Amino acid sequence: MELRREQLIHKGKANNVFSTNAGDILELEASDRISAGNGERRDVIEGKGVVNNVISMYCFKLLEKNGIKTHFISEGSNECSKFVKKLDMIMLEVINRRYTAGSFCERFGCEAGVEIVPSGVEFSLKSDELGDPFIPKFAIKALGIATEEEIQYMEETTAKVSDILSEYFDSLGVRLIDFKIEFGRDMDGNIVIGDEISPDTCRLVDKVTGEKFDKDLFRQNLGGVGEAYRKILERVKG
Ligand code: TMP
Repeated sequence: MELRREQLIHKGKANNVFSTNAGDILELEASDRISAGNGERRDVIEGKGVVNNVISMYCFKLLEKNGIKTHFISEGSNECSKFVKKLDMIMLEVINRRYTAGSFCERFGCEAGVEIVPSGVEFSLKSDELGDPFIPKFAIKALGIATEEEIQYMEETTAKVSDILSEYFDSLGVRLIDFKIEFGRDMDGNIVIGDEISPDTCRLVDKVTGEKFDKDLFRQNLGGVGEAYRKILERVKG
């Protein structure tokens, strides 16, 4: 069956979600919208949607090739979009850290750029209202968000994803500092990776110069966001 986009069913901070002519498939479109501080600062970066979508699709294909289940089905109806499995999202942000950065340094008062071996996985509750707070595993279980086995699966899978993506970015001369992924349950009850994997959700820096290619440029108001995103896309495209 040829997939066709139907209605806009959700407009998120950065992505638009459309229904399709297949009940269990959505079309996910990356927009040029960017935001930080839980939506407090907003802007539009021309071309960001294309970059994020192309990089996301590349990463999902790479993970699938390595036996990791994702929601990715196929390229979408335009260069900013992809067709994906409809998931019942698990309201967690699963973060993997390979080097100290960002909120890790703020919370624990440490310097940035220290390697974490083996890489660490942590969970945040996905809640704009509460500011996506850190959530311990016992609370994930107690609140009925995921079972012990599901938590273990997400942790192990995220660590594998980290090694696969890190090796890939390393081959492009880029260091993967940390990233966030989200999981959901498909119609058969399998847990698969959803959402996106892009410079909005990863910290990526040049291995030699330390040049940033990710959303930290916007979070820290450093400018040059569009240019940095274009540069990382060029490396991905080869
Ligand atoms: P953090 O250091 O701010 O906790 O971020 C860790 C990683 O997760 C970093 O690569 C950015 C990503 N991230 C998101 O994609 N969305 C979010 O809402 C947050 C808080 C982090």
